[in-house]
Amino acid sequence: MHYLMEKLQKDHRNLEKILDLLELQLDHFLAGRESDFDLKIELLEYMEAYADQAHHPLENIMFTAAKSLADEQADLMDRLMQQHQELAQLTRTFRQSLENIFQGGVMPREELEVRGREFIALQRQHIALEEQEAFPLLDEVLQEQDWAAILEQSPNYDDPVFDKPDKIRFQTLFDYLSKAE
Ligand SMILES: [Fe+2]
Repeated sequence: MHYLMEKLQKDHRNLEKILDLLELQLDHFLAGRESDFDLKIELLEYMEAYADQAHHPLENIMFTAAKSLADEQADLMDRLMQQHQELAQLTRTFRQSLENIFQGGVMPREELEVRGREFIALQRQHIALEEQEAFPLLDEVLQEQDWAAILEQSPNYDDPVFDKPDKIRFQTLFDYLSKAE
């Protein structure tokens, strides 16, 4: 397996950690327990900063390359790239909802719950679809020269939490993680 695919899989494990944490925080809030809005917003900001700006663009380059090599799987590649756009939009609106509540805005608890649960479920389903159907296909059809071309186009962007920690931007998250250890 090419190391770029291993990197994407590692990203998925990290994203799952972030989603688990978000779900836990959402559960606390919905149960009327103390929950940390700064943390929830930072989790969403991380997804915007890394998943939407680095991880998904790299996958898009790979899916586009695979599409031309595996005609019968073009629909799957298109669907996943479409989901990247939809997920970016969902992440943005969910973060804005949280910011709004944090600033004293009123949103019915049920609405926040529906949005939050849907957001988390769609992110997880997307990761599962990529790993179960798309990644095996990429592994099969992409050859050495395709990987070289993909590498050339790949975005040069470090993960600001798990690779090159930006402890100022994600201060609440790092505080949380260091306490949890
Ligand atoms: Fe992915």
